[in-house]
Amino acid sequence: MPIETHPLHRHIGATMTGVDVRRPQTADDVAAIEAGMDRHAVLVLPGQDIDDQQQLAFTRNFGPLQEGANTTLTATTLRLGAAFADVSNLDKDNQRLERNDRRRMAALGNRLWHSDATFRIVPARYSLLSGRITTTNGGNTEFADMRAAYDALDPATKDEIEDLVCEHSLIYSRGQLGFTDFTDAERHSMRPVLHRLVRTHPVTGRKSLLLSAHIGAIVGWPRPEAMSFIRDLMEHATQPEFVYAHRWTRHDFVIWDNRTTMHRVRRFDDLNIVRDMRRTTTMSEGPTVAQQAA
Ligand code: OGA
Ligand code: MN
Repeated sequence: MPIETHPLHRHIGATMTGVDVRRPQTADDVAAIEAGMDRHAVLVLPGQDIDDQQQLAFTRNFGPLQEGANTTLTATTLRLGAAFADVSNLDKDNQRLERNDRRRMAALGNRLWHSDATFRIVPARYSLLSGRITTTNGGNTEFADMRAAYDALDPATKDEIEDLVCEHSLIYSRGQLGFTDFTDAERHSMRPVLHRLVRTHPVTGRKSLLLSAHIGAIVGWPRPEAMSFIRDLMEHATQPEFVYAHRWTRHDFVIWDNRTTMHRVRRFDDLNIVRDMRRTTTMSEGPTVAQQAA
């Protein structure tokens, strides 16, 4: 079957058909998927009934795996292998997380607009999210196009932000929700890293805004001034004109480029409904700015 894309939105998102995620991909297939990603930033592949091994094998076509997403809280027993980000609402026995569970508190951070793993020196390239058990009553995933958002800025703002550098940490994103009780070891493992606010896509050469809930400071700026400005930019970048909202169907497989997008999951009744979503992630080319090794 030929690989085809069908846009879902004016700027961002397309459905891709003709790919079977369960099978090995040819170099041409990988090139076609990457070209689709460079153009649309988010691809939805429907009808991909895959297991964890198939998801991992497919993911490896797109760069080195980024592992350890669920190990930032101490004493967490993992339900999935370390190469997976478990973004379900389940514990290792497939029971729903209880209301005050710290893993649930951490997962609620996904309801804030973010780009994956910007709290790491080498942030994420692609995220690949498999909908094993999906929800329709809430639980949509929304994606915002950071290229279109950058393009729409006025020239003075583009000049002002060109060389700005931000601090990113899970402490900042979790702190926004009032989740602040961390051990010293957790705080140490979550110390901030630096990223440029404007980055250039290595293939398309397009500039985009590197925004994320993980931002807690702009280097050299007073914090309240920095955070009010970041809020303004977030508001600008997440206007409906830049956003595609994905309503999940079981076995959808959604790939997004974290270098050009932000995303968030919408509220749903996670105490009573099961949502089993499994993410694999690949690493981007390297740090966006020089910094001391963490
Ligand atoms: C993620 C994430 C969104 C969702 O997987 O990175 O933010 O819809 N999850 O669960
Ligand atoms: Mn995410």
